[in-house]
Amino acid sequence: MKSILFVCLGNICRSPLAEGIAKKIVLDQELKLHIDSAGTGHWHVGETPCENSIKVAQNNGVDISKLQARKIEKEDKRSFDYVIVMDQNNYHDLEILGFENLYKIGNYGGFDGACVPDPYFYSGFEGFDKVYNMLDIAILDFLKSKGLLK
Ligand code: 4NP
Repeated sequence: MKSILFVCLGNICRSPLAEGIAKKIVLDQELKLHIDSAGTGHWHVGETPCENSIKVAQNNGVDISKLQARKIEKEDKRSFDYVIVMDQNNYHDLEILGFENLYKIGNYGGFDGACVPDPYFYSGFEGFDKVYNMLDIAILDFLKSKGLLK
């Protein structure tokens, strides 16, 4: 079974949302894919996703409330076929750790290589809606481009 790891900085806002969206696609389309997420930073290890990520996911029929943040590990290099990052800093951090199978999600779905904005630093909910929609479109396009859809 192919596997995908989504990575952001804290693993509490963007990548757990990406994990939830991808798992929903896997369920809806009856795909055989293993999906996980992790953060490059350690600050939030063990925490559930931020309130707004849980809320925007819930509004779209996705339950991410039980996910728990974890930090990226060296073993992840061997464990995942695709490692998909949210922004250039994540990409750089993983490159330094020796990851090779790296993809930036903004290169899919017509976003012109854009970084997924870090909603942790937004005050309102609107940013999370935008992030959800961007991830939803880009993840589907990624799966399609890799021949992972049926
Ligand atoms: P994420 O957002 O990378 O999308 O999970 C962040 C969450 C926490 C922090 C930074 C980004 N932080 O600095 O604690």
